[in-house]
Amino acid sequence: MTSASRIWVTGASEGIGLGLITHYRRLGWQTVGSSRRPDKPEAADQWIQADLSIATERQRAIDQVLHDGKWPDLVVLNAGIGHWASVEDSKTIDSERIFALNYWAVVDLSRLLMQKANGRPIHAVVMSSIAARFGQKNLATYSASKAALALWAESLNQEWRDGPHRIQLIMPGVVQTDIMRHSIGKDGLPLGNQAKEHGGWSVERTAAKIEAATRSPQFSHILASPSTRLALVLHDLWPSLFYLLLRRKL
Ligand SMILES: NC(=O)c1ccc[n+]([C@@H]2O[C@H](COP(=O)([O-])OP(=O)(O)OC[C@H]3O[C@@H](n4cnc5c(N)ncnc54)[C@H](OP(=O)(O)O)[C@@H]3O)[C@@H](O)[C@H]2O)c1
Repeated sequence: MTSASRIWVTGASEGIGLGLITHYRRLGWQTVGSSRRPDKPEAADQWIQADLSIATERQRAIDQVLHDGKWPDLVVLNAGIGHWASVEDSKTIDSERIFALNYWAVVDLSRLLMQKANGRPIHAVVMSSIAARFGQKNLATYSASKAALALWAESLNQEWRDGPHRIQLIMPGVVQTDIMRHSIGKDGLPLGNQAKEHGGWSVERTAAKIEAATRSPQFSHILASPSTRLALVLHDLWPSLFYLLLRRKL
């Protein structure tokens, strides 16, 4: 009898992360989830409570994932937090919180996995955003954290090219989650009811697309409509026209 494949998803208490463990459980995988919350969602076979913006908690989370000696077949480093403030209003302490989770947690967890791998292959998926590809008002810190993550992952992909490990980059467009409500505002607190409506792809569709992406050999995957992808091409080729059209749309 072969044992079920195992997935570890960070930020699995809600949103895209919860959608992922729900999707993979349905496919028969053994699911390990983590977030700051103590309560295990039904879709998680194993739950690890950890604040991944803290270095010691990352080490503890890795130890708990590996405590029974079972190596995860897939690790989705998904936990992330938004920031909504102008550059002038952004406090350094808040920007550091954003980078601690969106960038440093992913970098650190990947390195800890490498140290523990001992010949076993790593398949890591990291969650950036299309916000990494262009500038928007009030999103400088968030976008910079996701852009740093994307280029870090692209670099690691080169390092891992001829070895056993794999990394893939997911860049979602807008997904219907409470990410805006959880985003930190200029006062350092979650926006809550001040958050703008956040429509877009469903969590289920996003999870299914991420799962399909992990089966493809391609490194980078943009999860967005053809018109959004076209806009990203326009940004790279003719940025002034892109920003003119963006301002008209907003
Ligand atoms: N939704 C979108 O439109 C969108 C678009 C592009 C990219 N993304 C990216 O996709 C990922 C998931 O976003 P989402 O929309 O699902 O967000 P979400 O609904 O706000 O969920 C965020 C998850 O991260 C966890 N988390 C937050 N802070 C944490 C911390 N310090 N330590 C550990 N876990 C923490 C949260 O759980 P706890 O509160 O229980 O800790 C929650 O499970 C993020 O990286 C986000 O940047 C989202």
